[in-house]
Formats: sequence, C-alpha cells, structure tokens
Amino acid sequence: MNAQSPLTILLIPGDGVGAEVIPAAAEVLRALGLDLHFQQAEAGFGCFTRRGTALPEETLALARQADAILFGATASPSTRVDGYRSPILALRRALGLYANLRPVVSMPFEFSRPGVDLLVVRENSEGLYSGRERVETPDTAIAERLISRAASERIARLACELALRRAAERQRPPRLTVIHKANVLKLSDGLFRESALKVAAGYPDIAVEELLVDAAAMHLVRSPQRFDVLLAPNLYGDILSDEASALVGGLGFAPSANVGEGTPLFEPVHGSAPDIAGQGIANPTGAILSAALMLETLGLPAEAKRLRAGVQRTLAAGIRTPDAGGSATTQAFTQAVIASLSRF
Ligand code: NAI
Ligand code: MG
Repeated sequence: MNAQSPLTILLIPGDGVGAEVIPAAAEVLRALGLDLHFQQAEAGFGCFTRRGTALPEETLALARQADAILFGATASPSTRVDGYRSPILALRRALGLYANLRPVVSMPFEFSRPGVDLLVVRENSEGLYSGRERVETPDTAIAERLISRAASERIARLACELALRRAAERQRPPRLTVIHKANVLKLSDGLFRESALKVAAGYPDIAVEELLVDAAAMHLVRSPQRFDVLLAPNLYGDILSDEASALVGGLGFAPSANVGEGTPLFEPVHGSAPDIAGQGIANPTGAILSAALMLETLGLPAEAKRLRAGVQRTLAAGIRTPDAGGSATTQAFTQAVIASLSRF
C-alpha cells in the first residue's frame, strides 16, 4: 500500500452502538499520533429515515476517495422496508470488496479459550447474499445462491496467500480448511469446493483439508486450536465467524476487514446492538481491533501491534465492559487503552 501522507480515514459510524464504538476507535487512533486525516459520513437506517437513502451519494464518493474506511454497524430491519437496502452490502459491492477477513485470536481473560489463532476468509460478493430473492407465490419465497468459478478461485487465491503470510509471521506450517456442503449442494458448493481445491493445489506448502460446514461448526467449538485459515462461502463464513468470536469473548471483541479492488473497509463484526445502544456501555474492542487491521493493511504493522498490545494490557488489567463481565463504560475502557499505549 502507498504511504502518502496524510492518509485519509473515512469514519462511517452508522446506527446504534456503531455511533459509540467508532468515535472510541478514532480516539485511540488519534492517540497514536500518526499522520491521519479523518472524515466522517452518514449511512444506515437512521440516515434512511431522515433522508430517504441509507447510503447517500456523498458517502459513496468519500468512500471511493479515502485510503480506508472505518465502519460501525447499521440496523437492518428483518422485514422488508420499501426503498431500504443494507448500506454495508451496497458498499461492499460498490467498492468491489470481495473478501471479508475475520481473525479470531485468544484474549487474555477467563472468557476466552486459550491457543486460538484463526482467520475466517469469507467470500463476500455472492452466495446467498447476492440479492436475488423474490416472492414466487404468496406462500413461497425463493433466494438464489450464486456461486461462480471466478469468484471462488479469487477468494481461494487470497486465502492461500494469507495462509502463507501467517505461516511466515508465526514460523509454522500453513494450513487451509475449505468449508462447504457439497454433499448436498452438489452443483453450487461443488463448484466452490472444486475451485478452491484446484487453487490450493498450486500451493504445495499448504496443508489443505476440507470440512462440511456442519462438522466445521462442531470442530470450532470442540477444538478451535486446530484451525489456521478457514475458507468459506458467504453465509457459512458469516455464521462460523460469529460462532468463533464467542470462543474468545464474544461479538464485542471481533474485528473484520473487507478487502478487494477499492478502498478497504474495516468494521467490527457485531451489529447495532439495539438492546444496549445509547447506554455508553458498548465494548469498543471489535472496533479498535478493526482499526489495528486497518493500520496493518495501510502498511503500518508496528502501530497495529501497539494498538493490539494496548487492548490486551487493558483486558489483562481487569478493565472490561459489561458484556465481558466488567463494569467499565465505553469511555473508561477507551481511556484505559489510550493510557496503556503510552506505557508501550
Ligand atoms: P448484534 O451484533 O447487534 O447484537 C447481538 C448481541 O451482542 C446483543 O446482545 C448485543 O448487545 C451484543 N453486542 C453486540 N455488539 C456489542 C458490543 N460492541 N458491546 C457489547 N455487546 C455487544 O446483532 P443482532 O442483535 O442480531 O442485530 C441487531 C441489528 O444489527 C440488526 O438490525 C442487524 O441487521 C444489524 N447487524 C448489522 C451488521 C453490520 O452492520 N455489519 C452485522 C450484524 C447485524
Ligand atoms: Mg454476522
């Protein structure tokens, strides 16, 4: 990535706790003292209610120009609302962000399983999220699940490259688990499986295994330490990564990166958390660790490491938000992370 300065970071807090955790992450980023230029833009259901669009043109224009985007969460209703389309899906599509990367790493506290260090590589552009859903008759609805060879090979190539990079960083052999349900979905998941295994065969150093998605869900709970890189179609990757986040403390701790052709976008895995929004108690860790992923992608690995260490020290010192059994507010936790940066 080019390191022209300053780097422009577009903040899109969105709805609910997004508006609490993104300012917290921005505050921590500012405390690092880097040459970052912040901009802010609107998106989400609140924006739709006020302005009739969930993703205004100016947000998309700023997104295209920025070096990176830090995105909070949006509240998508579970019923159809005329004219509303999830802005995160629209952004991923508009920016060509075909890969959703969700690292899951053990946290230094009792709610986290030890020894977990895995990465879910989720195909982000098709599968059941391709937007081809329709009502066939008043009593029948159909969703089309699109799997293409090109998109499957593209995501598999990225998963293999990331497996090699992780192995070099960790000085251990790379492993890749290809996840599918090709025993039932023989044509669509069959194509995903075939494409992924063909690409992986070009990386002889990577130990490749395949797992049916239901078995993978079981193995994740039973022995998460056995996994390195998990490659999955869109919906499976979404579900398995939420499951995996519960192994290390829960949704409040899970970061993600959306990468591909355009401006990379970083977001906590969680949603708008309407049950706790507005109370100032949201866990900003997922957002802060997403900012760390962002710094890494922008070519600032030492700063990313410093951020992660700050979070780990804060948790290890017993400062936690209520979702992690503590009583710290979002602000208190954020200030503790900032204080621990100066000691690093
Ligand atoms: P959610 O992730 O918002 O909440 C699930 C549970 O985790 C809740 O109990 C919540 O309080 C807790 N939680 C989530 N983030 C937290 C944090 N930072 N700190 C402490 N606790 C946290 O998922 P839910 O309830 O299924 O969905 C709520 C809304 O969010 C829906 O409208 C959904 O469409 C949207 N959503 C948006 C996403 C996005 O913008 N990428 C992703 C997932 C859901
Ligand atoms: Mg999810």
